[in-house]
Amino acid sequence: MAESILGMKRSRMCGEVSRGDVGSEVTLMGWCHRVRDLGELCFITLRDRSGEIQLLVTPESSPEITDKVSRVRSEYVLACVGTVALRSAPNPLMKTGELEVIVTDIRILSESVTPPFYIEENVSANEALRLKYRYLDLRRPDMQKNLILRHRVAKCARDYFDRCGFLEIETPMLGKSTPEGARDYLVPSRVKNGSFFALPQSPQLFKQLLMLAGYDRYMQITKCFRDEDLRADRQPEFTQIDLEMSFVQGDDVMSVTEGFLLEVFRDVMGIEIQGPIPRLTYAEAMNRFGSDKPDIRFKMELKDISDIAEKIDFPPFQQAREKGGSVRAICVPGGAALSRKEIDAFGEVAKTYRAGGIAWLIPSDPPRGSFLKFLSPEAIGSISVRTEASETDLILIISDSDRTVFDALGAVRLDAAAKMNLIDQKQMAPLWVTEFPLLEYDEEEGRFSAKHHPFTSPMIEDIDLLDTDPAAVRSNAYDIVLNGTELGGGSIRIHDQDLQKKMFSLLGFSEEQATEQFGFLLEAFRFGVPPHGGLAFGLDRMVMIFGGCASIRDVIAFPKVQNSSDLMTEAPAPVSEKQLEELGISIRKEFGDASQTL
Ligand code: AMO
Repeated sequence: MAESILGMKRSRMCGEVSRGDVGSEVTLMGWCHRVRDLGELCFITLRDRSGEIQLLVTPESSPEITDKVSRVRSEYVLACVGTVALRSAPNPLMKTGELEVIVTDIRILSESVTPPFYIEENVSANEALRLKYRYLDLRRPDMQKNLILRHRVAKCARDYFDRCGFLEIETPMLGKSTPEGARDYLVPSRVKNGSFFALPQSPQLFKQLLMLAGYDRYMQITKCFRDEDLRADRQPEFTQIDLEMSFVQGDDVMSVTEGFLLEVFRDVMGIEIQGPIPRLTYAEAMNRFGSDKPDIRFKMELKDISDIAEKIDFPPFQQAREKGGSVRAICVPGGAALSRKEIDAFGEVAKTYRAGGIAWLIPSDPPRGSFLKFLSPEAIGSISVRTEASETDLILIISDSDRTVFDALGAVRLDAAAKMNLIDQKQMAPLWVTEFPLLEYDEEEGRFSAKHHPFTSPMIEDIDLLDTDPAAVRSNAYDIVLNGTELGGGSIRIHDQDLQKKMFSLLGFSEEQATEQFGFLLEAFRFGVPPHGGLAFGLDRMVMIFGGCASIRDVIAFPKVQNSSDLMTEAPAPVSEKQLEELGISIRKEFGDASQTL
């Protein structure tokens, strides 16, 4: 039976016992990490979130202690009183490795069944098992490190923005469904059957209304919900560090944000990065890196060779030209040493981005390549000069519509850098990307959609183009990118009613539809709106990169898996008939037990 904690008060965390404690009595509490019973002597490693310490039970201990210790197993919760001593055989791998505690009293506060996996760093258990028993997984030092890092970043955010005059204001979780990009998570109303709340995809509209209400400089660390396909850096519920400011222009928002990022680097990561953070326009980012979130830790930039390709009779180049597209290349340093199979693998990457394939060339003597019979020595020379390739390098070429070339060659660039080990994993390379297109043409829907969101302001100098060439309009939006991941994004908002109406009509909303969806915002905008703008960081992504984690799940205490379910609680799950009845909902027969089979 579990013993009581009564009369015992913890005096130290396990990892905090230090040399200065030698000879004094401490009271420690924690989990038995490991027990080694050598008969005469028994060693227990006691663990809490601060670290571990060795407990020693000697033959001099009372029979009651010896008997109790013989029952202790891994993950039992113990309380122990003892005297700190120097270890005869120190363990340099442990923070408290030169110390041990000679036990004078011990209690078993709670027993444990054998855990399904061993609680250790770099655990080998598969992730599904770890997520089912997430509370055990969270006991591991790796996970604790990540969650402590997350706390530090959040604390740094609150301190920094408080110093800069921001107020933390909460916004509702139960809101109205508005078309914002991803699918909404809906919550049925009991009081108003047939109506639904939507969980916020972001606090976007509320923070704009706070500006209108005069709460200049708002910030919030808040949950957002998006029902979209998951990736390594996406979760259906994630956390934003969200901000909004009044009477500002893009530069003001960027400079406050940048100050925060540099402070996190310095105070949390111990990395000094000199500002200002470099800026690239969207057009430049695409042209040079084939991505709107370029990883600039390595070069391997895209080169436009369309003019050279014009004189080459290679059918894919001609087809690209006919489509109004382009021919672009990257030079993989040292790539000549790759095997044919490895080079072909780049083609496979390109194909997943809808490119027809990849043409390759090694400008050695004699040259090697996939389309040599179409190439004159002059063409080979021109391509090598343009791509700055030497004979030990590999030139990879994609020809298609600009969009496909950028997507495919951008992805191949990342793949090649990983393969050739060109990325310094310790480097942190932040970057602003600015001047995004305001609108994106959705081929399927046959209409424009907002690249950022419908409240993003066009650049003033492009406003006239809204009537003549909407696709060419640049927005007053900016993304902050770190090592090839979009950490955050924001914009200056439209604060002019007429411009907002025009934007809605470009996006294909009729006046009635706009009123139905955003009526409260349009109504509010009649009452004096300060010019305003803001940005939101993805906190999870930020911690994921700082912590060097491969998955966003490693920085979230209780994450969801690929199909957006929680393996521990088994949510989502069916609810009772009574609950459904109250909500006025009946489940179609074919879906009756769908969630049970997840
Ligand atoms: P945006 O949609 O770009 O902007 O989101 C801001 C940042 O949130 C993070 N993020 C995510 N992180 C994990 N999982 C997801 N599913 C996910 N989706 C987004 C990213 C992203 O950069 N309201 C605007 C901000 C603004 O304009 O002020 C917004 O939400 O790091």
